[in-house]
Amino acid sequence: MTRAIVVVVLFFAAQAQAQTPGASDLQAGKEIWQGYFGLQNDCKLCHGEQGQGGFAKPLAGHQLSTAEFLRVVRQGAGKTMPAFMPDKNLNDQQVSQVAAYLASLPKPAERGMWRTPVPPLATPRQKLYVESGCGQCHAATFANPRRTAGGLGGDYEWFKTEVYQHTTAPDHANSRHLRMGNFSREQVPESVLQELWQFFSVEQGLRVPINADISNGVLAGNGITYTINVSNTGRPGKGLTAEYITVTLPLMRGRDPEEVTTVVEATTGGGYTGIHRDPITNSNAAEFEIPKLGPGEKRTFTITLSGIGANAGIPRGTVQWEKPRMGTGDRDLIAISVPPGR
Ligand code: HEC
Ligand code: HEC
Repeated sequence: MTRAIVVVVLFFAAQAQAQTPGASDLQAGKEIWQGYFGLQNDCKLCHGEQGQGGFAKPLAGHQLSTAEFLRVVRQGAGKTMPAFMPDKNLNDQQVSQVAAYLASLPKPAERGMWRTPVPPLATPRQKLYVESGCGQCHAATFANPRRTAGGLGGDYEWFKTEVYQHTTAPDHANSRHLRMGNFSREQVPESVLQELWQFFSVEQGLRVPINADISNGVLAGNGITYTINVSNTGRPGKGLTAEYITVTLPLMRGRDPEEVTTVVEATTGGGYTGIHRDPITNSNAAEFEIPKLGPGEKRTFTITLSGIGANAGIPRGTVQWEKPRMGTGDRDLIAISVPPGR
């Protein structure tokens, strides 16, 4: 009799423990929600920074069981939430911790805003793209996937696989972690997917994946030398080629905009065209030109500066190219990345 009671009591104690998440689970859930593996957490792009809701309903203070929460995450929800997979997205333990953290938050008083609203001048296809949920993670113009596609020579079949079988797509075989899940054909019927592809490849256009970085300054004989790398990270034989590329390096400005404060002592790598006005920063800028950069190709330049501001680094540089133009007719442009901490 006493033994039976003890067993029953132990049984309930164990159950209570299984259902009440510990402080460490809440902490882990919070960290995953705020950003895991050093990347943005994408749930909050739709459900709000604090789970207060936005594009999708609030999750803060939800009363779903762990099993119910998990089921939604694995199956996807509504027309716009993809199914997130345990191997490539978040595993069961991580999702449970997120569920526990969100349940511990107070219910929000007010639902948040869409992270990416439909732009005021949106075309019908852009509106469809934002409302299909893609725009909450990929912002208003699909900028990054268009670079990926331009680098791989991605076509409609590639696009389709990326959307319906994202986590098992051949290009992700070696990815340790993916932030996007899989959409079903019920959520995004192929007729909609074709419209999204038109928006992606024609209205916006595939982009060349150009990357550029500049080094910290190194003391040279007569000044300070910076090294600039410009590369096309596309797959050789598959990706797009950029043509008529301009590398713009804004120089430190004096109080009087015409005052020459920084002097270019020397350059290497070829293609230096002198100092020109940069409309983006409204300052004088040293420019280099590259006629053509194919997939897998890389160019390296150095520039040696002296005078005031020579050691201040060259922030806010850009790379632009004439061809291929974007679907909008604009020139494509990327920022030159500078060493962290500047
Ligand atoms: C692209 C937008 C989007 C993203 C990203 C997203 N969701 Fe959702 N989620 C939705 C939509 C839409 C619903 C259906 C309810 C609604 O219409 O708001 C939903 C529903 C849910 C529900 C069910 C809520 C309930 O009360 O029934 C849970 C749980 C959930 N999402 C968790 C997550 C988690 C966890 C992540 C990240 C791994 C995530 N969602 C990412 C759009 C999104
Ligand atoms: C939860 C955020 C999220 C949503 C919603 C989302 N994506 Fe993605 N998508 C990503 C991320 C992040 C990547 C990069 C690979 C990864 O980490 O999964 C990606 C990759 C892609 C790629 C492959 C190209 C690349 O750069 O890797 C395509 C194509 C794509 N998404 C299309 C779509 C379409 C179409 C929709 C809407 C139906 C959509 N995505 C919705 C986050 C999202």
